[in-house]
Amino acid sequence: MRLLNASGCLDALTAPEAARELDAFVTKTVTPLPRAGNAPVRIAETELGMLNAIGLANPGMDAFVAQYLPRLAQLGVPLWVSVGGFAVDDYVHVARRVGARDEVEALELNLSCPNVDAVPENVGEVVAAVRAVTTKPLYAKLSAAVADLGATARAAEAAGANGLSLVNTLRGLVLDERTLRPVLARATGGLSGPALRPIALAAVHTCFCETRLPIVGMGGVATGRHALELIAAGATDVAVGTALFSDPGAAARIRSELQAELAAAGFVNADNAIGAAHAPADGTLDPRSRLSSSKSLHMQTNMAG
Ligand SMILES: Cc1cc2nc3c(=O)[nH]c(=O)nc-3n(C[C@H](O)[C@H](O)[C@H](O)COP(=O)(O)O)c2cc1C
Repeated sequence: MRLLNASGCLDALTAPEAARELDAFVTKTVTPLPRAGNAPVRIAETELGMLNAIGLANPGMDAFVAQYLPRLAQLGVPLWVSVGGFAVDDYVHVARRVGARDEVEALELNLSCPNVDAVPENVGEVVAAVRAVTTKPLYAKLSAAVADLGATARAAEAAGANGLSLVNTLRGLVLDERTLRPVLARATGGLSGPALRPIALAAVHTCFCETRLPIVGMGGVATGRHALELIAAGATDVAVGTALFSDPGAAARIRSELQAELAAAGFVNADNAIGAAHAPADGTLDPRSRLSSSKSLHMQTNMAG
């Protein structure tokens, strides 16, 4: 089990100590050209989390590779680069450029940007096109707001993805208490934090059954218990996002809380808890489940252990 940050939720260069607590640092999404992002106000709070409409602000791939990547590499933490765009070619350009760099361990394809149509065919098309230009591990980051998440995940797998990142934000709206006008300049934004937790659990649970891919689970993780639940649903790794804004040291705390949660639940380690939520109460395997044989074996081993 690796503990990562969720893309866009930690500036590793201004908070290097927080980044060093991670097993890998995931960058904010990089696009071919620089993007200033949306006009302020871009962040709003709700009782259930936060809303952001940053708009993929980033320096663009040339400046990222020339100015940011060498400094990020000095952190001594494996680097995952989040790749974004608005057309298949955008992803291909960034993946080819960034994927050629030795400093980069893996690429996460942000396929859940509101401006990219996330139908399964399109996800498969992007993953296949990127697969053709890089040998780096590819994680497809999906939104829970697709018509058929299982089909989308299978399309990513068939196209050559090495893993899934689940989930991205969901569109939400916050109104000003007094004026009843939207707080964000763009009105709607991506909802993250506690409200996403049950949605993320369901997404991970579904994709664990539908594919053989390892899953980075994220969405409202703020404690070791939250991490354990995502792992039980089927996550191989866990990412922390919104919680880092209020607690930059959250990763270290969550890691130690998770150890205590695992011990209390009788697991030797996190890997033994992967998919525990899929085991029927009587210990037999559910014949209706679409688990791969390797996952089934893994689960049997877990339950035995
Ligand atoms: C301020 C902010 C910026 C984000 N930027 C990105 C981004 O650039 N690329 C991306 O794939 N996800 C981005 N996300 C989504 C997160 O990576 C994550 O999927 C989501 O917030 C759910 O996790 P959380 O509830 O722990 O925050 C952003 C989220 C927030 C709150």
